[in-house]
Amino acid sequence: MRLLTTVAGLRCALDRFRLSSPTRIEHQRIGLVPTMGALHEGHLSLIRRARAENEIVVVSIFVNPLQFGPNEDFQRYPRVLEQDQKLCAAQGADIVFAPSAVELYPFTKVPNSQDLTHIVPPQSMVQLMCGRSRPGHFEGVVTVVAKLFNLVQPTSAYFGQKDAQQLAILKRLVLDLNIPVNLVGCPIVREENGLAYSSRNQYLTAEERTQAATLYKSLCKAKEAFMNGHHLRETLLQQVHDELATVPALDPEYVELVNPETLEPLEEVEEAGLLAIAVRLGKTRLIDNIILQNRRPILAIDGPAGAGKSTVVRRVARELNLLYLDTGAMYRAVTWLVLQSGIALDDEPAIAELVSQCDIQLASGTTDGHDLSAAPCRVWVNQQEVTQEIRSLEVTEHVSAIAALPSVRQELVSQQRHYGRKGGIVMDGRDIGTYVFPDAELKIFLTASIEERARRRQQDLLQQGTEVPLKHLEQAIYERDRNDSSRTVAPLRKAEDAIEVQTDGLTIEEVTSQIVALYRERFQEV
Ligand code: PAJ
Repeated sequence: MRLLTTVAGLRCALDRFRLSSPTRIEHQRIGLVPTMGALHEGHLSLIRRARAENEIVVVSIFVNPLQFGPNEDFQRYPRVLEQDQKLCAAQGADIVFAPSAVELYPFTKVPNSQDLTHIVPPQSMVQLMCGRSRPGHFEGVVTVVAKLFNLVQPTSAYFGQKDAQQLAILKRLVLDLNIPVNLVGCPIVREENGLAYSSRNQYLTAEERTQAATLYKSLCKAKEAFMNGHHLRETLLQQVHDELATVPALDPEYVELVNPETLEPLEEVEEAGLLAIAVRLGKTRLIDNIILQNRRPILAIDGPAGAGKSTVVRRVARELNLLYLDTGAMYRAVTWLVLQSGIALDDEPAIAELVSQCDIQLASGTTDGHDLSAAPCRVWVNQQEVTQEIRSLEVTEHVSAIAALPSVRQELVSQQRHYGRKGGIVMDGRDIGTYVFPDAELKIFLTASIEERARRRQQDLLQQGTEVPLKHLEQAIYERDRNDSSRTVAPLRKAEDAIEVQTDGLTIEEVTSQIVALYRERFQEV
């Protein structure tokens, strides 16, 4: 791992990484984790996530003067670079970038927005919550993050949901300025008593640490009320205030309920709400939040090829009355559209334009009372039903080439997430629980040993009249697993919170009922 403190050093190191890569430059994914140091488990979770998803991981450590107000804790903010370096190395980071303020802001003695080219986030997103008591704070954040994006040019950048307002504003920055980076929001990591990890927790006394646990407790109280059907702002905020009031040392600065993306205040949670609080405790200011989702659960089923996902997922959908979001059908629909339009199959820009403007709709297949699991889902492209058309030989022949295009995948993932808003869906793939729906309510990792998958494949082939030695099939499956785990587009990854279902020796019915039971147990649906 390299420690670099200058722009010149960082740029040079990144160039060398790219050049020394055995694969093509565009396949070197760079993950960036911006921090202000004093690293704790929350930061480390972001670094681990970046490590799992990229070839190169850069952690920046910079206590950014631009985002601190005149009466804030810039001077006393903890600075422990040596310890941070060790932690980054232990997580497998490649580069720690820790510049001085002069290095990043060479044209101002005391960095301030007035003397710098800087970025101003939308007024509507900064006039409330933390922005109200910290004027200029988010200008400082987006300006330094935009600089880091330009310096590192990451494929993905990782931020914690802990700073939910920051995350929403940065997402808007990326959209508004068309910055080519994928922003990944990561879950809040908490201490055992529920207190969210924060570099500022170091300021707390032992007694305050215990008292601070009430922040999360108050959010959980509101969530409980929410799950019991209370969706109105007034009721939810009251729950939080009541709980916070049990510890007089806690002095609430704000309790807010907003739209998680736009930060618009909500009178009622229809789809999703961000319930966020800031509290003063002694000399320390603490923030925390929770997302309230009003949707039916999402069930994500990932796993290696040949573990039986596609059969199982259809049966699970039927038994639980969930919509099977058939990604295969979506890719077929796009392929049909491309073929239909007469665009050359290697003209990716034209395909990207076409796909970014198309509308795909899915609905459960009709059944006539026969085997429901076999009914294909119905598909519409731009309001035209194409359920039959997408099964044509021509589509089958071209679908894998179209599905491999990053622009196609990007658009379809965004359409899939749109379906996710209301929930009530089940989906299978390689990275549904880690990438498409990282907040899915239930994640299953369906797997089987290589030997078992080879045996099943051998049986299938035998039925089609072909005999292939087991050893050949095992080797092919082994290689496919390896490719699937290391591919750049949608690699296979098991989510940390996924439940592994080992299917060796089990029938499809047995696997289906295991998953259905897990779902019912968790959501108490009968
Ligand atoms: P900092 O407070 O050091 O946080 C760095 C990143 O770690 C942020 O994305 C933050 O949301 C995330 N993080 C902090 N505590 C967390 C927790 N308990 N669980 C999960 N993630 C957590 O946020 C900043 O620095 C700065 O504003 C920065 C973005 C670096 C710009 O200067």
